[in-house]
Amino acid sequence: MDIKKIALGNQGLIVPKIGLGCMGMTGFEEAHMYGKADEQEAIATIHRSFELGGNFLDTADLYGPFKNEQLIAKAIKGNRDHFIIATKFGWEIDDNNKVTWAINGKKEYVKKAVERSLKNLKTDYIDLYYLHRLDKNTPVEETVEAMSLLVKEGKVGYLGLSEVSSETVKRAHAVHPITAVQSEYSLFERTVEERGVLQTLNELGIGFVAYSPLGRGFLSGNIRSLDDLPEDDFRRAIPRFQEAHFHKNIELVKLIETMAADKGITSSQLALAWIMSKDILPIPGTKRRKYLEQNIASVEVELSEAELQKLEGIVPLGTDTGLPYDDFSMGLID
Ligand SMILES: NC(=O)c1ccc[n+]([C@@H]2O[C@H](COP(=O)([O-])OP(=O)(O)OC[C@H]3O[C@@H](n4cnc5c(N)ncnc54)[C@H](OP(=O)(O)O)[C@@H]3O)[C@@H](O)[C@H]2O)c1
Repeated sequence: MDIKKIALGNQGLIVPKIGLGCMGMTGFEEAHMYGKADEQEAIATIHRSFELGGNFLDTADLYGPFKNEQLIAKAIKGNRDHFIIATKFGWEIDDNNKVTWAINGKKEYVKKAVERSLKNLKTDYIDLYYLHRLDKNTPVEETVEAMSLLVKEGKVGYLGLSEVSSETVKRAHAVHPITAVQSEYSLFERTVEERGVLQTLNELGIGFVAYSPLGRGFLSGNIRSLDDLPEDDFRRAIPRFQEAHFHKNIELVKLIETMAADKGITSSQLALAWIMSKDILPIPGTKRRKYLEQNIASVEVELSEAELQKLEGIVPLGTDTGLPYDDFSMGLID
């Protein structure tokens, strides 16, 4: 099988219409992101994705740290050139492999970070290299200039930014063409639309990648109560999942599920098809083949104008579903 391909940005990067988010496939330090991961099943999921045409993988040095990139290296061994690998840097990781929680976009750090990612991914090039968060103490021009050198050296194919404002994108793009911006985007999280970021990207010919397109699993309908989440689950710290918002968000999920069932698809598939209808690339995360297959099948789902209107009527732009991060992480968004 093959998945229809799209151009991500106008620099020449061609990717399948849907990617695979790998973050949940490894834990973070001692904790788990979305429940315990099984390495064998995670690798089988990447292989199944490849068989189905899903060769665009999203990772970051932060995930693990490094364990996620190392897992990908293992999964794609002997087949590297047939995958498109996107990874990210910026959350400072020290020489003891500890995350300091500072953001570092200084040119020396860019050079260090890329060498580490290349080593962990066991490759000599990264297809798409993102700045994970803006370093508010370093001009974005310095960071992008350093990233641009990596392109000249052949270590990186294309450049990306994550969770940045229109102003930052414009400044970065003036230094070196930016291929993609990645931010959280789903039926529950439409800030990039409200802040005009999507419009800026369209004007500049930059692609948009929607991370957490299933609302970190909320839109799948599988989370019915906070007790469904393991004790060390990352989502427990997110306001959107907390008491004040959880119950009303579940009511929205139920309506989305009903609409999906009427169409003979799952709510995850409806949520992904809605994103793809906007020519946006979703990178749903899963660590199991079963969900991966369902997610890839959503590429075939067609939504009529009436269906899109009905769905947007359930969760209109501006609906308050709660913040996507705790105060600390909200402060890191540009
Ligand atoms: N740039 C950034 O700052 C940033 C931030 C967050 C994420 N990301 C990237 O975006 C990717 C995707 O985001 P995400 O993983 O946070 O959230 P997501 O894709 O919205 O949701 C992932 C959750 O949904 C579940 N799920 C996936 N497909 C499903 C299906 N068909 N039916 C039922 N449940 C399903 C997964 O379960 P299982 O895990 O149990 O399979 C997991 O718990 C990440 O993997 C990462 O690469 C980037």
